[in-house]
Amino acid sequence: MDKPKVVLGVSGGIAAYKACELLRRLTESGHEVRVVPTAASLNFVGEATWAALSGNPASTEVWESVDEVPHVRIGQSADLVVVAPATADLLAKAAHGLADDLLTNTLLTARCPVVFAPAMHTEMWEHPATQENVATLRRRGAVVIEPAVGRLTGKDTGKGRLPDPEEIFEVCRAVLRGNGRDGAAADLAGRHVVISAGGTREPLDPVRFLGNRSSGKQGYALARTAVARGARVTLVAANTALADPAGADVVRVGTALQLREAVLKAAADADVVVMAAAVADFRPAVYADGKIKKQEGREPDPVALVRNPDVLAEVSAERAAEGQIVVGFAAETDDVLDNGRAKLRRKGCDLLVVNEVGESKTFGSEENEAVILASDGGEVQVPYGPKEVLADVIWDQVAPRLASRRELRRA
Ligand code: CTP
Repeated sequence: MDKPKVVLGVSGGIAAYKACELLRRLTESGHEVRVVPTAASLNFVGEATWAALSGNPASTEVWESVDEVPHVRIGQSADLVVVAPATADLLAKAAHGLADDLLTNTLLTARCPVVFAPAMHTEMWEHPATQENVATLRRRGAVVIEPAVGRLTGKDTGKGRLPDPEEIFEVCRAVLRGNGRDGAAADLAGRHVVISAGGTREPLDPVRFLGNRSSGKQGYALARTAVARGARVTLVAANTALADPAGADVVRVGTALQLREAVLKAAADADVVVMAAAVADFRPAVYADGKIKKQEGREPDPVALVRNPDVLAEVSAERAAEGQIVVGFAAETDDVLDNGRAKLRRKGCDLLVVNEVGESKTFGSEENEAVILASDGGEVQVPYGPKEVLADVIWDQVAPRLASRRELRRA
């Protein structure tokens, strides 16, 4: 099979150096990459670097190799165009259809999915001109990744950082995987999606907690794939040790009560809430302010527990936004399907993703196997495979239901 053809557009921001790492990840994982830098970006990273790392010439102008008609051919033959970093100027040109160099020409001729990874100072990102350009590009089906928050050039910090190249790479992979999917690639565009991930920890004293073995990988895979499908993503992460997915707004929590608060807040305007976190059903009734000490000649006191609120059931019952879709997860060791169906009814959600768990199954692994049960009677078997694939199947179930609810609301 031919290698997927990726055009890496680089515009003139200091984060251009991070695009070298993105390029390396793309070529090493079997993509044919053509780098199209803007003239300004060559002040940051030179042509020789792009040519050497991609194995292809890197030109900025439409006037080079004119016989090959590069200003149309590069865009026409691409499977994906990713622009990283995308400056405010580049976004403005793309939104308005300007074509004054090879990259902007390529953007006009590309009919494949386009991903923009903006990077700029916070003021430029927040300016209404930039925000309107981003909204225009998203409306047309482009994936514009929200910049990360952190250190910017100089002394400034704020929103505007280019996300981790590894995470931009994951978005590219997810978008490429979606090529050929029925319907629009960015089928979650304009949607706010809230995902909980990881496992809560319920403290006993300042050094001990009751926890569980959830790694958060399935929830993070859902966040990545939702970004790649155009959604605005809030990821409520409980005790995870994973890199922030590019473009997701990550809210960190520790306990079930903190998770409940963060999820309910984000759910207020959400189109979809996915409860992938392993939320502790119980917490210690008493929290000891000081470390609990062992006492010679005395057995320890039993630990009294109290119930935590059921966040999934609460979100399902409340439906803060009209037509909101709620997705739950169930981890079962026995009678997987019967228990799953009973849980779907009990929790009141629209979809329940049922995993069979055990010592070596699911926890911390990169792969997963599940059956997705729907309250409208549907049942989808998802064979053992990467958590990203399961995540996409979940969105495949969510997206048409969202669309049909919108139709119902209009009627
Ligand atoms: N969940 C929740 N709040 C809780 C417990 C669970 O929101 N206090 C959510 C999880 O995020 C998951 C779903 O409920 O989406 C299923 O959790 P699970 O532990 O499998 O089910 P339980 O309701 O705890 O039932 P049981 O312990 O009987 O398996």
